[in-house]
Order: sequence, then structure tokens, then C-alpha cells
Amino acid sequence: MTMGRWIAPSLLAADWSRLGEEVAAVAAAGCELIHIDVMDHHYVPNLTLGPQVVRALRRCGITATMDCHLMASPVDDLAIAFAKAGADWVSVHPEATLHVDRTLAVIREHGKKAGLALNPATPLCVLDHVLDRLDHILVMTVNPGFGGQSLIEATLRKVAAVRRRIQESGLPIRLQVDGGINEQTIARVAQMGADIFVVGSAVFQHPPYDEAIGRLRAALEH
Ligand code: DX5
Ligand code: ZN
Repeated sequence: MTMGRWIAPSLLAADWSRLGEEVAAVAAAGCELIHIDVMDHHYVPNLTLGPQVVRALRRCGITATMDCHLMASPVDDLAIAFAKAGADWVSVHPEATLHVDRTLAVIREHGKKAGLALNPATPLCVLDHVLDRLDHILVMTVNPGFGGQSLIEATLRKVAAVRRRIQESGLPIRLQVDGGINEQTIARVAQMGADIFVVGSAVFQHPPYDEAIGRLRAALEH
């Protein structure tokens, strides 16, 4: 079963002094999803942006699908705020909420795609009773908090294990990978079963963006 392989540029690596232009440029360059990393300096040791930035991007005419990866705890109120601000997809980490099932249900109740993000050391048993609440699973291929890190090799087996879980379930759940994805690593994570590739540095540090995305798609073919 394939739902197509998507590239999701991560704004963490964009020029934040020109954020609207950067989002418009990657959207025009042919990506399927815009990945927005939300960090609270509590769940992760870094601080980024709140829902008002998503609202501002919508107000300046960005219509691209926005995938908000919430690295924040507690997360329920924030997930709702991002949903209301214009996010389309919302991912949360299971360690960031006491009631994972409720958090995922709340995201869908607001009409958004719900995802669970798994750190390199997060066991897959967190998926056991919530698969039917998930539209996507995000496997972190680095520890969350910073862009520009190297992919952790042990996470490749984890991607394969999550793909097996999805296949066994028969559910149409997308499998994202996030962290250290570039021309050298993208084909390997694809072979393990990933179908959405979050890419920060390898897009924004290598303009023009259409060519950077084109090189990633070419690497996927090998
Ligand atoms: C890390 C973020 C990633 C990060 C990826 O916590 O979730 O989305 O921006 O950046 P690169 O592609 O540079 O590893
Ligand atoms: Zn992310």
C-alpha cells in the first residue's frame, strides 16, 4: 500500500526574519506539507513559536497544509490553539500528556489530523491502544529539540517496526520521519517504510528550494 512519498520542509531551518516568504517559496517549490516545530523550553531544551505565527501565515495567504509538531507539555490546550489558528495536522509526544487517548481525540474533534511523535527511546507499546485514533505516526530519527543533527542509526529499525504495525492494523496511517533526513539518508528511511520525510537543513540551507526538493526526490528513487 502506498500513499505517495511526501517531502515536508521544516521551518526550523528557515530564515525567520522572512518567514512568510520562506513558506511561500517552499510551497511553490512543490512540497506536500509544511512542517512547523513547536518547542516550549520545557519538554525540549529549545523555544520556537506559538499559534499566533500559524495564524499570521494564514492571514498572509498561505494555503499549504500545515503540519504542527508540538514538542510541548502540557499539550492539550496548545493543540486546540494550533487547530483554531489554522494547523491541519497536529502531532504530540506521548510523554507530554497524561492522557494520550484524550489528547488525540481532542485533535480530531477539532477536525484535524492527529499524530503521535515517538522519540528514539520511546517504546512502541504507546501505540497499542490508540492506533485507531491516529492519522499519522512521526518517528523521530534524532532527539527532539534542534535541527541539523545526524540521524540515529537505531531509529531505522524502529521505522521498520512501525511500518509493520501499520500494515498489520490495515489502517491508512502515514509514517513520517523527522531529523537528519538528507540526500544521503532519505532512501534508507524510505526502504524501512517511511512515506513522509521532514527535512529542515537539507532544504533551507541549499536554495533554490525546488532544486533541493528535486534532489531529495531523485535520491528517493535509488
Ligand atoms: C527536531 C525537529 C525537526 C528538525 C529537523 O526537533 O523536530 O523537524 O527541524 O531538522 P533537520 O532536517 O535539520 O534535522
Ligand atoms: Zn519536527
